[in-house]
Amino acid sequence: HPMVFPSSRVHFPKTSRRLPQALIIGVRKCGTRALLEMLYLHPRIQKAGGEVHFFDRDENYLKGLEWYRKKMPHSFRGQITIEKSPSYFVSPEVPERVRAMNASIKLLLIVREPVTRAISDYTQLRSHAATAILPLAERESSGSGASAQPPKMPSQSLLYAKLQAAHGYDNALLGGSGAGAKETKTKLSAAGRRQTGAGAAAGGTMTTTTPSPLASAAQMAAKSFEELAIFPNGTVNEAYRPLSISMYHVHLHRWLEVFPREQLLVVNGDRLIEDPVSQLRRIEAFLGIEHRVKSEHFYFNETKGFYCLRYDNGDRCLRETKGRKHPHVDPVVVSRLRRFFAEYNQRFYELVGEDLGWPE
Ligand code: A3P
Repeated sequence: HPMVFPSSRVHFPKTSRRLPQALIIGVRKCGTRALLEMLYLHPRIQKAGGEVHFFDRDENYLKGLEWYRKKMPHSFRGQITIEKSPSYFVSPEVPERVRAMNASIKLLLIVREPVTRAISDYTQLRSHAATAILPLAERESSGSGASAQPPKMPSQSLLYAKLQAAHGYDNALLGGSGAGAKETKTKLSAAGRRQTGAGAAAGGTMTTTTPSPLASAAQMAAKSFEELAIFPNGTVNEAYRPLSISMYHVHLHRWLEVFPREQLLVVNGDRLIEDPVSQLRRIEAFLGIEHRVKSEHFYFNETKGFYCLRYDNGDRCLRETKGRKHPHVDPVVVSRLRRFFAEYNQRFYELVGEDLGWPE
């Protein structure tokens, strides 16, 4: 077989690609990658390479289960295949689709204190915006009078649409109220048409008064977390994606309408950072595999400020996009948001049957 397995994995006679028996369904920025890589230290675990996005993207889902299975790694009988796509958690159509594949699948949900998660999400979105959007926007505005044009290049539009969907820009930018990615795409094209219309009305010449969506996105990307999370009148911008994703009970509720509570394990992402082994022990028990991931599999890397992993074939830290430095956020805003989330957190605790003790 072309795949090379560490010696500790050679216990079984045959390998094949199998549909996952467990999924990490989210939540994004709570340590989903760390969790998967840590579980992979276990000889009974195989993992899908990237995020497959089978259940949440129609273009993938329509390809069918065979397509999905072929995305899975080879595994021995008795091993557990795990896939992680954090957007599963927040996509309404996903739980039912997962059940249709395997009603007894095991679900792992990793969570962090919601305000920390929101800031981490903001940090990631801003860094994506800084590397992708800003140079494009600068190029665009330096052109002669080109700043009024909507993005022409498909790649730019796509980039913009993605960024907008992720950031929940739609309300601020386009005057809508929804924060869903699907709505966002529709609104984006509507906005594109509006702008083209305005240009046509002005005799086919674009005026420089209308900022392009791309430049606006860049501007939005430059906004602080405080500005995006709290309106000038002091109310919380509940439609801001980094905040709405942190309303865990809303999303979890949909899953628990489809799956019994026992089929889902809630992993404490803040504890996974401090003490990976204790969280992994719970997961091993939940997955019904023996306790094999131990403290000798980890060492604390002072430079990174996180635990790194010892595999059979060497040491490895997660990439630098995992464990970013967060911007300073005004403590008044943090307390305001913690108070805002207190009620939602209670509802989440009730759903999971456990108090995670997040600060209020
Ligand atoms: P930050 O970068 O905000 O610190 P995800 O993989 O779901 O995107 O989650 C990323 C988060 O995983 C990071 O968020 C980091 O806090 C957390 N994490 C947990 N254990 C980690 C580890 N051992 N190394 C790096 N990041 C880890």
